[in-house]
Amino acid sequence: MSGHKKIIIGNWKMNFMVKQAVAFATKFVSKSIPEDISVGVAPNTLALNEVSGALSKSPIKIVSQNAYYEDEGAFTGEVSMPMLRGLADLVLVGHSERRHILRESNDYTREKCAAAFRSGIVPVLCVGETLVERQNYHTNQVLNDQLSVGLADLTAEEVSKMIIAYEPVWAISTTLDRRDATAHDSQEMVIFIRKVISSITSPLLAKKIRVLYGGSVNDRDAGEFLTKGGVDGLLVGKASLDSKKFLKIIDICEVSKN
Ligand code: PGA
Repeated sequence: MSGHKKIIIGNWKMNFMVKQAVAFATKFVSKSIPEDISVGVAPNTLALNEVSGALSKSPIKIVSQNAYYEDEGAFTGEVSMPMLRGLADLVLVGHSERRHILRESNDYTREKCAAAFRSGIVPVLCVGETLVERQNYHTNQVLNDQLSVGLADLTAEEVSKMIIAYEPVWAISTTLDRRDATAHDSQEMVIFIRKVISSITSPLLAKKIRVLYGGSVNDRDAGEFLTKGGVDGLLVGKASLDSKKFLKIIDICEVSKN
């Protein structure tokens, strides 16, 4: 672990109409968020503005689920990183749904990480292998490629500020034929991720960079991942759509760090 504050991010994916997103976010305003944990929520792009307003007095950070890498121009349907300035603190890059459903390549993630930093937004680079890749013993190669290309255009200082999320595609709640990942799987891959980062940057940076786990984390297994998974926090999808579960995960994080 990096020694940073623990981080819990809720990825709401393509859920909630704007009004619902605001109503949901409002549930967190009166809740006390422990100072020594960073909490973020990732609403859909249309809801970013209003959710960010609703949470303006809360320490909860706003995470964009995506953005394009060019700053402006003829890119119909896209939103740029400069457009997110003042709205989002972080941006997800290379989420497996974007890689596999929307066919985003490693080169895209490289451009997006660099674009995020140009706009003062911290990228959360998501990496992870599919079940077929794992069964064919390609996990290390896949992660190595995702990390070495994704980080290629960044300075050492930028790498030290960013976040990596290890999300095995086979463990994500929406994957057909999904499997359960264990804290041991997470720990093993986080060690490997730090090794790759060490080889492409430096051992010091590899130690400093924050690494999260994501893939069907819920209020029953969050403690296990946080204490035994070797991680600095969690990226939570489905369970973050239930405010009680999400708040419980934050509580578990607070308890497990002691
Ligand atoms: P999940 O999603 O917790 O629903 O598996 C995690 C993610 O895809 O970020």
